[in-house]
Amino acid sequence: MSADGTLEPNLSGPAGSYMPPSGGGPDVFFGRNGVSIPLPLIERAEGIRMWDDSGVEYIDMSSGPIVSNIGHGVPEIGEAIASQISTVDFACSRIVRHRASLRLSDQISRLAGPGYERVCFVSGGSEANEIAIKFLRQYAISIGQTRRRHVITCMPSYHGGTFSTLAWSGDNTLGDFLDGMVVDSPKIPAPFTYRVPENHTVESYAQHCADALRNTINELGAENVLAFMIEPVGGVATGALVPHQNFFQAVRQICDENGVYLLFDEVMSGSGRTGKFLSAHYWPQIQPDVAVLAKGLGAGYVPLGAVLVPAAMADPLAEHLGFDFSHTYTANPVACAAGSAVLDYTEQHNLMDNAMEMGAYLRNALELLKESCPLIGDVRGLGLLMSLEMVADQATKKMLPAEAVAADRIRMHGLNNGLLIYSRRTCRGENGEWFMVAPPLTISRDECDELVERLARALNDLAEELTREGLLS
Ligand SMILES: Cc1ncc(COP(=O)(O)O)c(C=O)c1O
Repeated sequence: MSADGTLEPNLSGPAGSYMPPSGGGPDVFFGRNGVSIPLPLIERAEGIRMWDDSGVEYIDMSSGPIVSNIGHGVPEIGEAIASQISTVDFACSRIVRHRASLRLSDQISRLAGPGYERVCFVSGGSEANEIAIKFLRQYAISIGQTRRRHVITCMPSYHGGTFSTLAWSGDNTLGDFLDGMVVDSPKIPAPFTYRVPENHTVESYAQHCADALRNTINELGAENVLAFMIEPVGGVATGALVPHQNFFQAVRQICDENGVYLLFDEVMSGSGRTGKFLSAHYWPQIQPDVAVLAKGLGAGYVPLGAVLVPAAMADPLAEHLGFDFSHTYTANPVACAAGSAVLDYTEQHNLMDNAMEMGAYLRNALELLKESCPLIGDVRGLGLLMSLEMVADQATKKMLPAEAVAADRIRMHGLNNGLLIYSRRTCRGENGEWFMVAPPLTISRDECDELVERLARALNDLAEELTREGLLS
């Protein structure tokens, strides 16, 4: 006990034996103490599973926050990291080049295909989106288009946690927090497909949202607009929304007509998660100008993000002014070596094919589950990036009451049934409540079956609880 009466952690003994004090600990930062959903203390992770300090086993159903693409504890990644550290531990990209970055950029531009010949590495998704927009801004200035600065995005959407990326993200609960701290960024409605406004079909709503982009560009003046940034397959902000293909065709055309760059934020959807290296590969006729990766690229082993741009843009800039922005850990050799090992593993084990195959298998199983579980309103996504939207009534799509906080509660019932579930409410749940189903790309059929069995129990427990509390009839 410390002088002020608070519990102190036990720091004696080896690192692995550290026990947090029951009232919290020095790592308490995100309201872990006193929240209704306990955070298990994870002590071991392997494949698609994690074990806590009491030996309870969980399936990592959402790969953390859609990160652990190749599963946990792959020895090859540890070996690649150790080998890199003993060869070149650190090298500053502003001063020298190094082979780890060369190799990884080569792998990525091969997998991404023509149009992405130049790759810049950073430490995560927010940094990558910032670098991508800084690159476009600097490029626009270099060709005399100095007024291009607006970044249009969707409401809702998520592009990161720095001030700029929060401003680009579509979360209407952040108004007061961001007010005066950042420049507001114009938003168009996200092209939802499950809940479309009355008098709209999915197609007509896709067109409506694309029209909103055109109108917004016209209002701002095309010469003032730099980019339109979108998650091609949504993350937790939209629950793995896959826009109708007409939307993509229309926005590509609108961007082209107005000299606006199209940026795909593939932080969550890239690196093979949907069954292709970029989800953009599903719509080959509408290639984005810039693509951004993170999360699954380092697969949880290292912090790593990447910005993919065409040589036709990067090279003139490099010769003319040089791209001006970097971070201390830009193209960090250890992160690059780990990223390379993750991609090697992904290719050697055909994990993109597996994501497509298991994605279809799991989706089918979830659709079947929907028939027996009235809480499931929609199953959506692509490959192994999926979500389940929960409803009070399947037929009318009526939302669960806000006080049910279903997106939070399902996590609790997941824990009780051996599932780690990633969910987060955006926009106070006004667009619906969902959670992510996105296990590691290594998942097998048997493991999918086991996941669905546990999920059925968790949803059933949630439905019973809501009914008991009069929140579901
Ligand atoms: C689509 C998308 N973009 C950007 C980010 C931010 O990435 P990071 O948390 O690595 O900064 C995220 C993170 O969830 C994301 O899902």
